Amino acid sequence: MGGTMLDWPHLAPTELILSGGDALLLALAEAELPHPGRPHSSRAELALFVSLIARRAGIGRAAEGDALRAALLLPLSKVTSTFERPADPPRTHFRVGLALRSALAPYPELAGTATAAASCLAHWDGSGTPPLSASSIPVAGQLLGAALHASSARFFERSIADRERGLLAADLVASTRGRELSPELARAAADLLAEEGPRAKLARPAAELRAACAGLAPLRSSETELLGLAVWATEATRSLGHGHGRRCASLARRLAASLGLSPDGQRLCELAALAHDIGEREEPAELQSPRGPDLEHPERGAAILQKSRGLRALAPIVRAHHERLDGSGYPAGLRGEAIPFEARVVAVAEILDGMRNEREGRDGLESSVIERELRALAAAGQLDPSAIEAGIRAAEVFA
Ligand SMILES: [Fe+2]
Ligand SMILES: [Fe+2]
Repeated sequence: MGGTMLDWPHLAPTELILSGGDALLLALAEAELPHPGRPHSSRAELALFVSLIARRAGIGRAAEGDALRAALLLPLSKVTSTFERPADPPRTHFRVGLALRSALAPYPELAGTATAAASCLAHWDGSGTPPLSASSIPVAGQLLGAALHASSARFFERSIADRERGLLAADLVASTRGRELSPELARAAADLLAEEGPRAKLARPAAELRAACAGLAPLRSSETELLGLAVWATEATRSLGHGHGRRCASLARRLAASLGLSPDGQRLCELAALAHDIGEREEPAELQSPRGPDLEHPERGAAILQKSRGLRALAPIVRAHHERLDGSGYPAGLRGEAIPFEARVVAVAEILDGMRNEREGRDGLESSVIERELRALAAAGQLDPSAIEAGIRAAEVFA
């Protein structure tokens, strides 16, 4: 085995302004910005709404923190305006909220965040889902619901302005008073939308969000502990590929063990494989190219991990997971030894996962076919031969 070996990362929580977990959530939200053409509001904007509404309505920091972290994790790109299509989106929200709640189950300190996610579509008058009403709706859920309505109204305002219908987001949110939202939260959100100061903040949500998060009780979980959750949140916004990160992680660990890497090296491969597609995001339909990969996701993923002190060592591996030995890969067209060894292991794990699972509508391939295809890739000079041999051994084990 040759090539660049990376230092084992120090996987301790950060001691900066934010705890490690929050730093990761923020890095994810920031990576969504700027996103020209994105028709929906970003996680960062939603989270900033949570914070601004909480201050205005006098809601405590604990409920604010729960709602804010749910906003940072909620796969919002699945959600359309609650004002534009009133019948469907609440159910979508609710499904997303329930999925988020089960994804959060292993993290006891995020129990309040799970509750906020699962109750954000309850309505003050009892007409929402779940059918809670008034003060029986958890405060963090009410707050997240108000933020969803506010960001949805803002998006709707933008779209109707084009059609010169003259409605304002503030009026839209005010109309939810005593129906979807409590009178206090509807007023707070409507006032916020009507004023110039908050609008300026919402124009650059990522910068403002750091300040909003800084005063919260920090998460004790480190970035490493929350990485699986962050990957889940990324994969949840895509229609295909759910579970790809976790499967690649376990494959990469097996390959690394089979290649004789140390336990630390195995863990590094495992974490990098878990995180390898964290930079992928669902593009709005009009921006999607009909075929071809998202060429920017390795760089975007590396940028997210680079911002997380505990995960920084994964960045060069993630950046290089689509590089190929013969220089035909991307983003940099690196060759041979210039590609970190761990990235070559992750590359084989990812290809193996694609072969073993549904690919382009086919069921997983037979292990004999996998062996033939893997050997062909090695012979073509694209993938590391030692990692390929390990992949073939792993494919036999899995057959
Ligand atoms: Fe992948
Ligand atoms: Fe990828």
